Amino acid sequence: MNESVGHDRLAAARALLGWYEAIGVDSIVLPEAIDRFSVPAAPSPPLVPRVPQSRPQARHPETPPHPAPSVAAPGSGDEVMLARSEAARAGSLEELEQILGTFEGCALRQTARRLVFSDGNPAGRLMLVGEAPGRDEDAQGKPFVGRSGQLLDRMLAAIGLDRSGVYIANVVPWRPPGNRTPSPLETEICQPFIARQIELADPDVLIFLGGAASKAITGSSEGILRARGKWSSHHTGQREIPCMATLHPAYLLRQPAQKRLAWRDMLAIRRRLDATG
Ligand code: URA
Repeated sequence: MNESVGHDRLAAARALLGWYEAIGVDSIVLPEAIDRFSVPAAPSPPLVPRVPQSRPQARHPETPPHPAPSVAAPGSGDEVMLARSEAARAGSLEELEQILGTFEGCALRQTARRLVFSDGNPAGRLMLVGEAPGRDEDAQGKPFVGRSGQLLDRMLAAIGLDRSGVYIANVVPWRPPGNRTPSPLETEICQPFIARQIELADPDVLIFLGGAASKAITGSSEGILRARGKWSSHHTGQREIPCMATLHPAYLLRQPAQKRLAWRDMLAIRRRLDATG
């Protein structure tokens, strides 16, 4: 091949990749696109999980034996039921992480590089919950390690805290492709796990970073600018934990003028920790 033609093609390929990255397409799901219209109803890879081994289904003696279904139709609600029973059987944060590590009920695990379970100190008095990992978190396996994580660290430092005294997690522990917003079904499937994570970590104060985390955990539909800065109570099943939503650091990076609201919230968090400590 003529050398200059080779260079042109390389430059064109680089430009195309750069363009994909700029529009947020930075993960390859399959090397080649599938024309779904030409594929006859082929069985798709299991999106949804095995029935948990540790909980054998009780069968009526008269029921003819048949194998338990190993997959459930995506979106059928079975994934949410399975997530609830799997989350409930975790007796510790370590067990919860292990269970999530093998949970196949959420399709996001197939495109994410790894599970992003937590960072910081599980015994910390303050727990922060974000929405879902981004690219840096997916690469490192820890929440809030990218640009918004760096801002979060500065916000914590401003009230005398760091990750040695704070426990950090996300509602959704797998990165959605291209950092898209998790779908309502993905969030619903992950919800029992974060609820159990909060219950097992049992912090003194719980903070939701951004509207998505706040809505997913409280069930409220209030926008973040209205919801932020107001204390309420999160019921874990064991006890009530004071909780509050604040602005997501990624939003603050885009809207730095709103940092004054976040600063108010950080001061309120400090006061609450001092009052409950
Ligand atoms: N945004 C989040 O909500 N969570 C992360 O872990 C990183 C960015």
